[in-house]
Amino acid sequence: MNKFPILMSSGYIGGVELKNRIVTAPLWTGFGGRNGSVSPRTIAFYTEKARGGSGMITIEYSYVDQIGSKSAPGQLGIYDDECIGGFALLAQAIHDQGVKCAAQIAHAGAMKFLPIAPWLGPSDGFHDLSSMGPLPPLPITGMTKEEISVQIEAFAAAADRVKKAGFDMVDVHAAHGYLLTEFLSPHANKRDDEYGGSLENRMRFPLEVVKAVRQRVGADFPVTVRINGTDYAPDSPITIDEALVFARMLEQVGVDAIHVSGGTDIYLDKLATPTYLKNGFNVYLAEAVKKKAGVKVPIIATGGITTPAFAEEILREGRADFIALGRPALADPCWARKIEEGRPEDIVPCIRCNDGCLRRTINFSRATSCAVNPRMGFETIRIVAPLKNRRRQFSQQIGPDGADEGE
Ligand SMILES: Cc1cc2nc3c(=O)[nH]c(=O)nc-3n(C[C@H](O)[C@H](O)[C@H](O)COP(=O)(O)O)c2cc1C
Repeated sequence: MNKFPILMSSGYIGGVELKNRIVTAPLWTGFGGRNGSVSPRTIAFYTEKARGGSGMITIEYSYVDQIGSKSAPGQLGIYDDECIGGFALLAQAIHDQGVKCAAQIAHAGAMKFLPIAPWLGPSDGFHDLSSMGPLPPLPITGMTKEEISVQIEAFAAAADRVKKAGFDMVDVHAAHGYLLTEFLSPHANKRDDEYGGSLENRMRFPLEVVKAVRQRVGADFPVTVRINGTDYAPDSPITIDEALVFARMLEQVGVDAIHVSGGTDIYLDKLATPTYLKNGFNVYLAEAVKKKAGVKVPIIATGGITTPAFAEEILREGRADFIALGRPALADPCWARKIEEGRPEDIVPCIRCNDGCLRRTINFSRATSCAVNPRMGFETIRIVAPLKNRRRQFSQQIGPDGADEGE
């Protein structure tokens, strides 16, 4: 019998059955074309991920319009009907491996790696969510109500394209400091109209987006939302109590699952926790939503879930219904398949070093890579042959004087 029975049991999001409780978290790769197109490299990367046997692959955040929503170089875009063809190829490549797929749709707001205006946000001015990496904080233009309406329509149209491309569901990015979080955040949102101030007002725009998405894709197409349990902003953060209210409201407007993360791309150590912070750093946020918000829809926990034993424990203790793998699925795309095949000890663990996936992407605008998986992003080029003596211990490989004894 499999040692991880709950993890490997099937589950539903909306009417869609996932063969196990493992979903891959959306993770920007930078492999897209200049206009946001799906490239052969994108397809190769996600095909390899899908071969790895997760219940569902969520593809990286894709921008919804051409007026400031793009966040990063090589990011995928779903801003026009012309984008549907490439997304359809991607959905097909994942389905061909027997795996369900979701696409995440996003507007950058002021959170960009790109020096391309406009930096749209809830309010004029600067806040430390604007720009990332080597860029200085850049001036944000507070959105007019007309611009808010334009973006609501952009999200709805993007979700419709995701559906037309053949994805199984759409995920709305309302986490990590991007536009929807900026409206929720008292740290970033200084408006004094019906979109700012009270929590009810700060939730208005994200909820209008989700309602419009739901309306456009119809009742039967699952819609999920990724939220922040907290953003860890040093002053006026989104608090967990606010996140609980937001989760309840999301359920009321008809979402099928809530994916709970934490942190922003500026408070990045809390979002993609480095090895010196404990595993599952943000799981308590998913647990709070699951146990305290009183919502019935499935909750997805994420962040630093690097071993199947820990994933099973989270599910067994009822802290979440599904677990999401971000970096661990880069380190080893076959994470789920190795469990299915009864050899979980062969999983190459993510060491949460943040070197290839974050340091080089943010500091040098490079595409994503992985320090422990040289094939990541080079799936069609680099063939890694298995070792002849694969169970030999490291201590046996290094001689007493430190010299490598070789094969
Ligand atoms: C290189 C990189 C890119 C990411 N891109 C996205 C993204 O497109 N959308 C998103 O919601 N989260 C994104 N994240 C956050 C991850 O989905 C995930 O929440 C985070 O890495 C923590 O989970 P993990 O410990 O399993 O990696 C990204 C993280 C990294 C390291």
